[in-house]
Amino acid sequence: MNVLTGIAVFAVSLVCLHVLGVSCTPLHPKLFDGVSPESRAQLEHYRLNDDVLPTHYDIEIKPFFEAEPEREAFTFNGITVITVTASVENVTQIKLHKANMDILSWSVMRKSNSMVVRSGNNTYDEETQILTLHLNETLLKNVEYLVVFNYVGMMEENMRGFYRSYFKQNGTQVWLGSTQFEQTEARRAFPCFDEPKFKATFLLKLNYKHLEYNVFSNTPIAKSEVIGNDRTLATFSITPKMSTYLLAFIVAPYNTTGDDILQVLSRPQAVNQTTYSINEGLKLLNALGEWLQYPFNSVPEITRMYMAAVPDFSAGAMENWGLVTYRESNLLYVPEDATSLQQQRIATIISHELAHQWFGNLVTCEWWDVTWLNEGFATYFEYFGTAVVEPAWELDQQFVIDKLHTAMQTDGTVSTHPMTHPVYTQAQATAIFDTISYNKGGVVLRMLEHHMSTEVFKAALVEYVKDRQFKSSRPEHLFAVLDKHNSSASAFMKPWTTQPGFPLVSVTTNENGFSITQQRFLINGTNQEDKLLWPLPITYATNGDEFSNTKPTLVGTETYNISVSNAANVQYFILNNQQVGYYRVHYDDALWEKISKALRTRGFAGIHVLNRAQIVDDLFNLARADVMGYSKALDMLEYLKEETEYAPWMAAANGLATLALRIHPEDEKLFSQHIKDMFGKVYEYVQFQAPAQSERRLHTYLRRLVLDWTCRYGHDGCSKSALKEFETFRTNSSVKVHPDLRQVVYCEGVRRGSLEQFDFLLNLYLTTNVATEQQLTLQGMSCATEKAVIYKFMNLTSSPDVRSQDKSTALSLLLNNQYALESAASYLVENSARWAETHGGYEYVAIALASILLRVKEAAVKETIAQFAETNKDMLGPDAFELISKGLEEYDNNQRFTNDHRDEILGFLTLKAGSDASRTGIFNVVVSLCLLLVAIW
Ligand SMILES: *[C@@H]1O[C@H](CO)[C@@H](O)[C@H](O)[C@H]1NC(C)=O
Ligand SMILES: *[C@@H]1O[C@H](CO)[C@@H](O)[C@H](O)[C@H]1NC(C)=O
Ligand SMILES: *[C@@H]1O[C@H](CO)[C@@H](O)[C@H](O)[C@H]1NC(C)=O
Ligand SMILES: *[C@@H]1O[C@H](CO)[C@@H](O)[C@H](O)[C@H]1NC(C)=O
Ligand SMILES: *[C@@H]1O[C@H](CO)[C@@H](O)[C@H](O)[C@H]1NC(C)=O
Ligand SMILES: *[C@@H]1O[C@H](CO)[C@@H](O)[C@H](O)[C@H]1NC(C)=O
Repeated sequence: MNVLTGIAVFAVSLVCLHVLGVSCTPLHPKLFDGVSPESRAQLEHYRLNDDVLPTHYDIEIKPFFEAEPEREAFTFNGITVITVTASVENVTQIKLHKANMDILSWSVMRKSNSMVVRSGNNTYDEETQILTLHLNETLLKNVEYLVVFNYVGMMEENMRGFYRSYFKQNGTQVWLGSTQFEQTEARRAFPCFDEPKFKATFLLKLNYKHLEYNVFSNTPIAKSEVIGNDRTLATFSITPKMSTYLLAFIVAPYNTTGDDILQVLSRPQAVNQTTYSINEGLKLLNALGEWLQYPFNSVPEITRMYMAAVPDFSAGAMENWGLVTYRESNLLYVPEDATSLQQQRIATIISHELAHQWFGNLVTCEWWDVTWLNEGFATYFEYFGTAVVEPAWELDQQFVIDKLHTAMQTDGTVSTHPMTHPVYTQAQATAIFDTISYNKGGVVLRMLEHHMSTEVFKAALVEYVKDRQFKSSRPEHLFAVLDKHNSSASAFMKPWTTQPGFPLVSVTTNENGFSITQQRFLINGTNQEDKLLWPLPITYATNGDEFSNTKPTLVGTETYNISVSNAANVQYFILNNQQVGYYRVHYDDALWEKISKALRTRGFAGIHVLNRAQIVDDLFNLARADVMGYSKALDMLEYLKEETEYAPWMAAANGLATLALRIHPEDEKLFSQHIKDMFGKVYEYVQFQAPAQSERRLHTYLRRLVLDWTCRYGHDGCSKSALKEFETFRTNSSVKVHPDLRQVVYCEGVRRGSLEQFDFLLNLYLTTNVATEQQLTLQGMSCATEKAVIYKFMNLTSSPDVRSQDKSTALSLLLNNQYALESAASYLVENSARWAETHGGYEYVAIALASILLRVKEAAVKETIAQFAETNKDMLGPDAFELISKGLEEYDNNQRFTNDHRDEILGFLTLKAGSDASRTGIFNVVVSLCLLLVAIW
């Protein structure tokens, strides 16, 4: 599954908006952890036992999209027959899952002779969603029984289980049914043993109205009979042995495009948007099959691949075996209406989901505590699988910024968790689909790859997949195979997967080389008591040629000496070539000085682009953690003025976005000047222009980033060019803006504009047939700065015009706009009932307010929110109230941080402003002036 947009109530969304390449402002993604719903049952009670094992399901589903006599609309009839065997003696009860359904009847019979097993009542635990069938006789061990259920289920709009969604066609609403079962929602469609390790085969029948609908599932339709009342009963061929969460079916008036191997399913008006994903999907399917030496369709039941675009979809995409489902924006592509980053995202998400066909579907994590065995691999292939078919995209570079740096943001907090981490409840199963399982998972695999070498890594994975096919897997299974290929593999992997966090490596020069020490890195100050150690993959470079070596020496001790002859005279010493190792590096003053000098040398003295990105990211975070002073870090970062590569700039954008939130309001003008100064040269380098035909993709991405920052901070050239394009488009909408300029043009148009400009984009948002354009217009609207316009955006977000799947994205986009925070807060306080109603409860009001508190600087806004919470404590309820309280606490922490670091940052900014004004002289005057200022502040 791809979950970048965040679904869980409490895990929502201070997500970085990778979708749009918006620089993220990583703020404590785990802030809301403490208030996630408490488990109300004993933890072990959430798990099934192994007494009774399912081997096969026969499922028949009959949906009603319209009311019929004695039948409500959006319900379905279900008949499920599960073949089970008792694995132990004397079994008198069967435990399995169900949720949100009425079971009309159930029975148990012996399969061989249909003899009914005498049974008693059943009991159901709402909290664990476990149904217990009590039997009056014991089941015979190793004999097959059938458990038969008749039931009625609900097709809700909540994007869980078998749910309903719609699209508009000629102005009318057309309903469809689709499924999302991961992690624990298959039980809403049929009673089942809803844990990944209980693999079984499935035979699905769908009873549907054939004049209006088509049906699709994991496997092809084997038989189709018209049965009267305009209904058809379609029987799908049997599935491979697989987990419940991978079953999927769709009842929709969809069209299919593609060939025999791969087809894309979409609503009729989008059939001309599927060409790209069909072609890219085929290439990826082949490339991954070759990589793993295991063609996807060598699983006999899976003869072809379907990829479906679903209008309402909680995750980004879902890897159901043979029927992958996606958000429209992650699958449908129109070159005229999508940025090159949106195109890349479509390709990488397809790669992620297709990689799951092996890592997840064929070989499945045994339980959600080792979700990384699915998602870590999928994240790895998201970039490195796509790289096989799109070598020009330089995805290896993007991986470091998008996955490694973001993993560190979460993993550097005290509330992080190890990759392998206990899970019991449904909420915990949802919560572990996080940056740690995904990004850290992928990062650790990349690190392992360089330790083993790509060839050996590949060979080991090929063997692992064959070894565990049709089974579930735990880390020990993976490690055992890895060890056969490299004897230190599991010793390397274990600490990285079972310990929380990651190390900070400090380097000092000594007589015969360099001494390194490791300790855990924490963003709020490094904890001296934490004695965790990791097997560090050590590589280093003292000149440009050495960065290509990424095969490390493993160092497991707290301190270690690297002997380098003539250490005192090296030009520089940089640890962790291409940032393959998952750790930060701090150097002694002399070494930092050398690095700083090298960065200001022509060609950066050969320092690899990824190591420049590493240094940038480390500097921001070392300063934030008080390992290094801000003035020193910011001074070193001045090198960026000469930087022209995307990776270091993206790292800088992330660091600056966080820093911007911590700048004292009275210092913002100076900070703004600093930003314009930093970006001045690179703006000239990228220019405000559409990408050239042959342009490097990373150059296009760099331009988007630079224009975003320069326009935001009031760069004249950027602003003028953007506004000109916006107004040209607004007066004649046939003169479209180049997709790769659209973000900045739409945003600047609304930012400097008013209601008219907003309404122009709103109209586009409401009428476009293209999901990627809808994302761009939504983002554009989120740049509003006038109160009335921000209120309109908030009204829009809490209306059905923004689909539930997009509501948290809309809010995140708005909160990325510092000018909107105050108005957003007052809107929420004034319209909390509406927000709660349309989002699904007061928790959502609390999430929005807490998210504002993490970013806002004005004490008045904090006061408004605090007062609101106090006055409405009862209405909010304990969970929502606590969420806001945590936000208030975070606000205070942030204030403290701002005040503690203000002098130093201001000192730097003032010094710089002065020196920029008159580069040639009066240095001493400025210094003393600045000291004076520091004293006053
Ligand atoms: C099953 O129950 C019978 C009768 O109560 C008993 O003799 C036998 O030991 C039990 N078997 C197991 C494995 O508990
Ligand atoms: C099952 O046993 C319960 C209690 O032991 C009894 O009340 C019930 O009638 C029995 N049901 C059947 C179908 O024998
Ligand atoms: C169901 O039956 C079991 C065992 O026969 C008994 O312990 C339980 O109290 C019964 N529950 C209900 C709700 O009747
Ligand atoms: C939609 O309207 C157009 C023009 O009125 C018509 O040609 C088309 O058949 C309609 N499509 C559907 C699916 O009703
Ligand atoms: C979609 O499928 C329907 C029914 O199968 C067909 O009538 C229609 O022409 C198709 N539309 C497109 C755009 O291919
Ligand atoms: C694609 O189809 C839609 C709806 O059928 C139509 O409005 C649009 O013009 C088509 N686009 C292209 C590029 O053909």
